Amino acid sequence: MDFFNAVYGRMDTQIGLAMENMPGMASPIGPWLEKAAAFKEKINLPVFHAARITDIATARHAVREGLIDLVGMTRAQIADPHLVAKIAAGEEERIRPCVGFTHCMSELRPACLHNPATGHENTLRQVIQPASNVRKVVVVGAGPAGLEAARVCGERGHDVVVFEAAARAGGQVLLASEADWRKDIVAISDWRLSELDRLGVELRLNHFAETADIHERNPDVVIVATGGTPNIDWLQGAANITSVWDVLSGNAPPSGDVLVVDGTGRHAALTAAQYCWNKGASVQFATIDESLATEQAYAERVVWRRWIHQSKISPRFEEQLKEVRRDGNKLSAVLQTELTGELTELSAGQVIFDYGTIPADGLYHELREGSVNSGVTDLGRLVAGEAQCGSRQTNPAGT
Ligand SMILES: Cc1cc2nc3c(=O)[nH]c(=O)nc-3n(C[C@H](O)[C@H](O)[C@H](O)COP(=O)(O)O)c2cc1C
Ligand code: SF4
Repeated sequence: MDFFNAVYGRMDTQIGLAMENMPGMASPIGPWLEKAAAFKEKINLPVFHAARITDIATARHAVREGLIDLVGMTRAQIADPHLVAKIAAGEEERIRPCVGFTHCMSELRPACLHNPATGHENTLRQVIQPASNVRKVVVVGAGPAGLEAARVCGERGHDVVVFEAAARAGGQVLLASEADWRKDIVAISDWRLSELDRLGVELRLNHFAETADIHERNPDVVIVATGGTPNIDWLQGAANITSVWDVLSGNAPPSGDVLVVDGTGRHAALTAAQYCWNKGASVQFATIDESLATEQAYAERVVWRRWIHQSKISPRFEEQLKEVRRDGNKLSAVLQTELTGELTELSAGQVIFDYGTIPADGLYHELREGSVNSGVTDLGRLVAGEAQCGSRQTNPAGT
């Protein structure tokens, strides 16, 4: 074990490190492969290595070059249980790539961030069956949910069009990929886009769909996946606040000194802090929780804790943002300590706040009156592939 630890390092931080050192999708080298090869050189036994080898090019390279004898691809096959079948069928480029953020090891295990069917095979099939009747389907929103709905409908053989208001598909996945160590998350949308391309699904970017656009298509089914918008307007002095979205999308470049306030315990505020820090801003960070990224999995928390330590940011804990006031050419943020109620004022050039999102549901409410199910999906029928209540149609997403 001493030798193992000397070669590999401490077990408890391995996963965090593997996530942080993730190769880009094009890289043929797994983050721990060199160490595994060094280990193999010292012993006269076959070596079976599993750690963040997600693509076949890397696996092939590792075995072909004799770095190791056998590759374990655990999460790769949680993301795509048909990985081997796709290789055998000569469809390697269709493998759904594991993005490596280990939701499958959280308490929801083995649920996969990228593959909704994994762990739910009793209700959702991994392989989608063609439908007996072709339906016209409109999907509004090309974030992960809309893209997945469009993909499943496309696999069913339906006639699908996707409307997306932005110039690029991906929604919040694009913002999440701004964190240094989470670049690969963009494969969640990229893989779906390549599948939509293969399936002939029409994607209309830069198209803010309104009710008239939907009616014009005369669809059998409308799937509204318009996501949400930053939930910051309720705060006193909201006009003085910059949303995480504005920062990460590049719409609001960071000022010289920023205060980032996390109201959710998730990735968004820390991602914005890292983005600003990388751009040379001096960063103050406060969170509503007693530790960093409390809502995230253990391995993710390790990475954030390490980054905040390395970047010499001293986070403030258990503080809630109450108000942001203009103070000359600066901003003054009022934070309240959760434990005692004590108020503190911090000065910054920019105050960036994450408090999650609220649904962008205007279109949904406009359309639901005209729908057979009043916009409420009967999940039992959906899973059984049956028509929604009162409808003639079969459910195109039913598998
Ligand atoms: C959902 C899940 C459950 C796991 N359970 C075990 C386990 O019970 N025992 C074990 O030694 N490793 C377990 N592992 C670790 C894997 O065997 C593997 O070493 C690790 O996921 C790294 O390989 P990968 O990058 O190919 O996923 C588990 C991994 C996952 C994702
Ligand atoms: S949850 Fe993430 S790490 Fe786990 S298999 Fe899915 S994509 Fe890979």
